[in-house]
Amino acid sequence: MEVVRDRTQLAAARRGLAAPVGFVPTMGALHAGHESLLHRAREECATVVASIFVNPTQFGPNEDYERYPRNEAADLALLEAAGVDVCFMPGVEDIYPPGASTSIDVGQLAEVLEGAARPGHLRGVATVVAILFALVRPNRAYFGQKDGQQTIVVRRLTRDLGLSPEVIVCPTVREPDGLALSSRNAFLGQAERQAASVLSRALLAAEDAYSGGERSAKRLRGLMRGTLEREPLGQVDYVSVADLETLEELTEVDRPALASLAVRLPSARLIDCLVLGDPAGAGLPARG
Ligand code: PAJ
Repeated sequence: MEVVRDRTQLAAARRGLAAPVGFVPTMGALHAGHESLLHRAREECATVVASIFVNPTQFGPNEDYERYPRNEAADLALLEAAGVDVCFMPGVEDIYPPGASTSIDVGQLAEVLEGAARPGHLRGVATVVAILFALVRPNRAYFGQKDGQQTIVVRRLTRDLGLSPEVIVCPTVREPDGLALSSRNAFLGQAERQAASVLSRALLAAEDAYSGGERSAKRLRGLMRGTLEREPLGQVDYVSVADLETLEELTEVDRPALASLAVRLPSARLIDCLVLGDPAGAGLPARG
């Protein structure tokens, strides 16, 4: 595996790469969720490029940018073992050259859900993804369903700007109790870790009701909220059942929908989601 640390080194490495080039952008602190994207890219592409960049523009002023987990040696070992060909680990000034002032505004999609709870977050994501796509020039780019709104934003910006990669969304990888793997799970104490399974249980309740024929988005949101509120350690940030393309809240689930939620635990804020009618994509544990 070749490790490249700036734009010039990346451009040199990029020249010789066999197509199709698959790309997996990450912020490091890699786990089996990231690994699943790398494996999928490895299966489908001649070359796999991964990036590790903790993107400052997607963190709010009072968020966890400074304490976001960083572990370069372990991350490089995991990438190497996953068969990655090139790892791009830029510094902040390689992504945002001095005086950089351009950002990507995807409109209403970035204002709801995570965008409402974390102003500017999805603008930061959209901007860094567009820059990474421009530098890496992948044929395919792999994202996790776990960050459902992020996948919708990335698809939209790719289409609207006429960018070349095919965006591929991979199922959420979960712990045996249903908790979606996340770098932020490392912040959770023992009691919080136990409480955290409430997110996937709430989604499972909605998925079960949907499978049983429930199509009222209000009742599905109510089921999720009810499950979440029975967990005293968690504070509900939002629950949503929204159109899979526009993220507008639905009244009737008469088309593909994203059920999503965010919960604040004392040491971390966690999100999870699923596409209603697509249990495989959610990777939820088997019932019973
Ligand atoms: P990060 O949180 O490191 O995640 C990198 C990729 O791994 C994302 O596409 C994310 O959805 C996916 N991922 C994380 N946990 C997963 C899980 N449990 N199962 C499946 N996939 C999972 O998301 C980001 O970084 C950043 O916003 C980024 C896109 C790199 C832009 O900075």
